[in-house]
Amino acid sequence: MQRFTNKTVLITGGASGMGLATARRLLDEGAYVVISGRDQARLDAAAAGLDADRLLSVRADVTSQDDLDRLMRRIETRRGGLDAVFANAGVGIFKPTTELTEADFDRTVDVNFKGVFFTITKALPLMRDGGAIVINASWTLQRGLPIASIYSATKAAVHNLARTLGADLAPRGIRVNSVSPGYIDTEMYRAANQDPEAEARNAAEVPLGSLGHPDDVAAAVAFLASDDAAYITGQDLLVDGGLVGSFPVAPAS
Ligand SMILES: NC(=O)c1ccc[n+]([C@@H]2O[C@H](COP(=O)([O-])OP(=O)(O)OC[C@H]3O[C@@H](n4cnc5c(N)ncnc54)[C@H](OP(=O)(O)O)[C@@H]3O)[C@@H](O)[C@H]2O)c1
Repeated sequence: MQRFTNKTVLITGGASGMGLATARRLLDEGAYVVISGRDQARLDAAAAGLDADRLLSVRADVTSQDDLDRLMRRIETRRGGLDAVFANAGVGIFKPTTELTEADFDRTVDVNFKGVFFTITKALPLMRDGGAIVINASWTLQRGLPIASIYSATKAAVHNLARTLGADLAPRGIRVNSVSPGYIDTEMYRAANQDPEAEARNAAEVPLGSLGHPDDVAAAVAFLASDDAAYITGQDLLVDGGLVGSFPVAPAS
């Protein structure tokens, strides 16, 4: 499929995990891809494995208004505009609620909510009518995960943003959706699941029987960002192997 030929797509948090998998997928489908992240060395390492002819990597922290302004200027200079944005950068601080500090709150909200909001609003002047925005939310916006109170609230917030912006930007034909990954095997997942039993335990909760791969989410993002989803806006697409939709089954004794 070549659904993104001549299209320019920005992916925040593009140096790893689902962001990098989506960069690879959209490059395969013909896009010009801009990846951003906080660390130039990580961006360079990611770029080394990608098609350099249609790739721009820009160091930009989504919590910095100056960085976001610089990022958008680089895109405007290089490409003149944007057709799609994957607002993917995020952090997870997973602790019992009573142990979460003000610093944990501020950092999580800064990256996952404020960062997503300003990535989108600063990208909008560059976006061509008929474009698409996809936000990386999480399955935890739909189910209560005890160690994820602030994290899950930010993900509910960004899904709500997708709904509102879906309506707000409809006159320009810009569609806005979120994707909600389940357990996806990435750096963030591994940092939060260091116990050796975690993979088997988590996979057992998933009806399809395994953790997801970043490519599973990349395929869903490519769909939502493409014209195949031309009549879909303000929605959340779960990519979770059935996790949220199923009733937890007690392990056999
Ligand atoms: N893995 C899962 O099971 C799972 C499930 C549901 C939702 N998600 C969501 O999926 C998204 C991607 O995470 P991932 O699982 O693919 O993990 P990941 O590989 O750790 O990706 C997170 C990316 O965000 C970037 N990032 C973090 N803070 C940033 C900032 N202030 N400015 C710019 N970039 C920043 C990181 O790059 P640098 O550190 O180099 O800046 C990194 O590339 C996140 O929004 C996460 O909440 C993950």
